Amino acid sequence: MSILIKSGISSLKVSFYGAGSMAEAIVRGLIHEKLIAPERISMLNRQNKERLTELHSRYGVQTILQGGSNDDYIREADIIFLAMKPKDAAAALSDIRPYIASKQLVISIVAGLSIQSISQLLGDAAPIVRTMPNTSSTIGLGVTGISYSSTVSPQQMLLTEAIFSLIGMNAVIDESLQAAITGVTGSGPAYVYHFMEAMIQAASELGLPEADAKELIVQTVLGAAEMVRSTGEEPAALRRKVTSPNGTTQAALEIMAEHRFPETVVKAVRRAAERAGELGEAIERSIQS
Ligand SMILES: NC(=O)c1ccc[n+]([C@@H]2O[C@H](COP(=O)([O-])OP(=O)(O)OC[C@H]3O[C@@H](n4cnc5c(N)ncnc54)[C@H](OP(=O)(O)O)[C@@H]3O)[C@@H](O)[C@H]2O)c1
Repeated sequence: MSILIKSGISSLKVSFYGAGSMAEAIVRGLIHEKLIAPERISMLNRQNKERLTELHSRYGVQTILQGGSNDDYIREADIIFLAMKPKDAAAALSDIRPYIASKQLVISIVAGLSIQSISQLLGDAAPIVRTMPNTSSTIGLGVTGISYSSTVSPQQMLLTEAIFSLIGMNAVIDESLQAAITGVTGSGPAYVYHFMEAMIQAASELGLPEADAKELIVQTVLGAAEMVRSTGEEPAALRRKVTSPNGTTQAALEIMAEHRFPETVVKAVRRAAERAGELGEAIERSIQS
């Protein structure tokens, strides 16, 4: 990250409206990388004071328990993260609407909520970024899909991408691809977990102790992902290299093909993307009603 971006971020005030696990992941990244002093970060919610006490003692961030009101923190922030559940978004956005100004940047991590709806709920007050991080962001290995409203400046884009790079990698995409990214990288970790569950079951059926099997499979998945990443080779090329004619891998892959493994995965991911679209439409309908 360039020194210019670093010093740009360090002079900002950032407010998280919604203080859940995803907000915490981003705050952890900002603080661990010493990009912003904790006193310049506020974390806000409606009711859970215990959670705010925990966040303040863990990171030193500001909350209403340190004296300011939610309204003050929002008004003073340069960047406001929307980090509440989709069902709470309409109420939350109408609460903060009076305090939003055009010089601020609003970054949403709310799944399914469109830039147009955010803009409408905030009275077209500020530039908007819509993002879709995934759960691996909580350990700094996430993937975040990022889409910008037409009013986001190039400098604000750089800041946004720098912030999300702290919790993993970014893909800047047209908003029409948000459902696709949700199906691929948003739900993606669960597909890999599911594959690992099946591998663990097979290992235990073959007599390997379950605890050992889990460790061995974690390493196998990590190693395979790292092979793809570090060699730059296509997964299909690496697969062909480990598949000797009439060998063990070929025998296994034949069973997978017979049970239409690739087609099933493609179908599943397409369905997840379609479901993301349906859920997004339901959120949009509930906001318009
Ligand atoms: N977790 C993930 O892996 C993940 C991945 C991608 C996207 N997301 C998105 O990230 C958002 C947050 O998810 P999460 O897992 O972090 O949720 P979470 O842990 O349930 O946290 C939601 C937070 O929002 C607060 N809140 C609710 N209504 C509010 C309001 N009107 N004003 C202010 N604060 C309010 C809640 O506290 P109170 O109840 O005390 O108000 C809580 O602190 C969701 O929209 C989700 O779709 C999450």
